[in-house]
Amino acid sequence: MSLSRRDFCLRAAVSVPLLSLLKARAMAQALQETGLKDLYKHDFLIGTAVSNRTLQQKDEAMLALIAKEFSAISPENCLKWGEVHPDTDRWQWELPDRYVQFGLDHKMFILGHTLVWHSQIPRNLFMEAGSAVSRDILLKRLEDHIRTLVGRFKGKITAWDVVNEAVDEDKGWRKSGWFNIIGPECLEKAFHLAHEVDGKAQLLYNDYNLHNPKKAEFVAEFVRDFKKRGVPIHGVGMQCHEGMDYSKIEELEASILLFAKAGVRVHITELDVDILPRKEQTSTAEVSTRYEYADTLNPWPKGLPEEMEKKLAKRYEELFRLFLKHRDKIDRVTTWGTSDDESWKNSFPIPGRTNYPLLFDRQKQRKAAYYAVAALKG
Ligand code: XIL
Repeated sequence: MSLSRRDFCLRAAVSVPLLSLLKARAMAQALQETGLKDLYKHDFLIGTAVSNRTLQQKDEAMLALIAKEFSAISPENCLKWGEVHPDTDRWQWELPDRYVQFGLDHKMFILGHTLVWHSQIPRNLFMEAGSAVSRDILLKRLEDHIRTLVGRFKGKITAWDVVNEAVDEDKGWRKSGWFNIIGPECLEKAFHLAHEVDGKAQLLYNDYNLHNPKKAEFVAEFVRDFKKRGVPIHGVGMQCHEGMDYSKIEELEASILLFAKAGVRVHITELDVDILPRKEQTSTAEVSTRYEYADTLNPWPKGLPEEMEKKLAKRYEELFRLFLKHRDKIDRVTTWGTSDDESWKNSFPIPGRTNYPLLFDRQKQRKAAYYAVAALKG
């Protein structure tokens, strides 16, 4: 797992030219025993998403790596409605229980993701006997879901992404089943219910593209309104599925400031950096987006050239510089997965590619990007 001191000095010297060798050596030693979570312990929590595969296989090596490097965990899939509660009376607790127990064993911040979302839900959630379900029945389904799920992990799950992706870019509320059947009040009902069940859990609204000033303002507006009317909301999660040339640091910064000013904590919840070419100049994380595979869109199937590794490291460095600058507003920075091989970005939005979006490579080794992030605390 750990790099030799010589290797580290070489890599650190390449990726962070100003870092003196002496400093690099001291840090290499420190990093052999500790991880990113320790380096950042006075700044914010450092998190990762735990995959279903890791939980299913009880992958000891991956779990040990996560325990060493991270102080917060997110469930990549196992707590989504369609997974944990695939039918009205059927709950699948095996992976969620394992996930939560792992977090408890290591005294981690444990996220619940997510209660209200339009994706990864059972096919018939919005249906009743072949037609659209009534508002009352859907509200009842939501209530049962929240009471059972939040209730089971009361006092164990630290924070919930109560609502995920309810805003559709510049168009206002997303016209999902939730919106169409219940209306925008769905959000506050979910926040109230979650709070009623576990009064100590932190409750977050989570979304992608929150660098987009109009989308961010729409979110800040309902956050202010919630705060004014006593709807329990404690944080906004900025997913931060980033690329090499988007989002602009200034836009991310403006949104961090906006949410903090609205009176909530900021969580960076799903950070990754997509280095592959884009099919279109959009940056959606809407999970149903698909483009056809082409070799030209998959330029590095056998490994990332060193020059690109360095560019990726620079990009991670500028993102973490920003987060550190606003560490008084930010509670947690979570990457969406640990090693490149397990990232959803290998198949999103184009299936079958080899992507390099995270801090650990396919051999679970620290990448130049990792060292760039570590060196900011050197
Ligand atoms: C992704 C998972 O990483 C994939 O494994 C799954 O197939 C689709 O969902 N925004 C979110 C996450 O809030 O839940 C999504 O996770 C990525 C986008």
